[in-house]
Amino acid sequence: MFVQQAIAILDSGVGGLTVVKEVMRQLPREKIIYFGDTARAPYGPRSAEEVRLFTEQIVDFLIQFNPKMIVIACNTATAAALDYIQSKVAIPVIGVIHPGARAAISTTKTGKIGVIGTLGTIRSGAYSSALKELNPTLEIVSEACPTLVPLVEQGLYETPEAVEVVRDALKEIRQYSMDCLILGCTHYPFLKPVIQTVIGSSVKLISSADETAREISTVLHQKGKLARGSELPVHQFFCSGDPEMFRQIALRWLGKQIELTPIVWQIS
Ligand code: SIN
Repeated sequence: MFVQQAIAILDSGVGGLTVVKEVMRQLPREKIIYFGDTARAPYGPRSAEEVRLFTEQIVDFLIQFNPKMIVIACNTATAAALDYIQSKVAIPVIGVIHPGARAAISTTKTGKIGVIGTLGTIRSGAYSSALKELNPTLEIVSEACPTLVPLVEQGLYETPEAVEVVRDALKEIRQYSMDCLILGCTHYPFLKPVIQTVIGSSVKLISSADETAREISTVLHQKGKLARGSELPVHQFFCSGDPEMFRQIALRWLGKQIELTPIVWQIS
């Protein structure tokens, strides 16, 4: 029997669903296997070593499904573990930082770019390095916004409380003149309307989801691995925390019911 090879996508929680949605839109024939480590989210305040260990554990889990590629749809995990995971597995592995950096560079007119992300991502300097590698003349301001991920994981991203939390988180970075702001965490697109209101309409918000989906398509095309045939795939989702919360957020974000299996970790 023919079994379609999937794209494995992982995140610390529900944030990677922003990448999933874009993959479903751009590559509707591709099967997705998703892992959201909701029991251990957020990854942002954890050490790089711990995030690397968790990412490796999820990759070991996903590899048993024989995926054709792995997407680390979490900026914190990309910063901490992308190189390591790429050296460990024999299939293509991509992260979300380079696609986000490329999208910002193709958008900015002034060369002044803001980056918001988790503590781990901002501390790693991964966005600044990726941006400067492409264009050393860019002016970059970065700010860690640790209060935003918990808001999304609790499903509170469309509430009046979200406006207050976002206003407070962005109060420093709003002072800078920039023409685009990278949402350097895959959870932040859930808050895009709120962030746009707070930051103002003259600043373009960059989410790496679209560009990451384009990169997936390029990689699969180059490897001759794009899905063929007319059958629509059945996606599989796994999460390590509260399955009801995950299911509700996925339904609201993706607009459809998902097939979800809860997983209990031995390491927490
Ligand atoms: C987190 O778990 O703290 C956020 C995930 C991300 O950085 O995209």
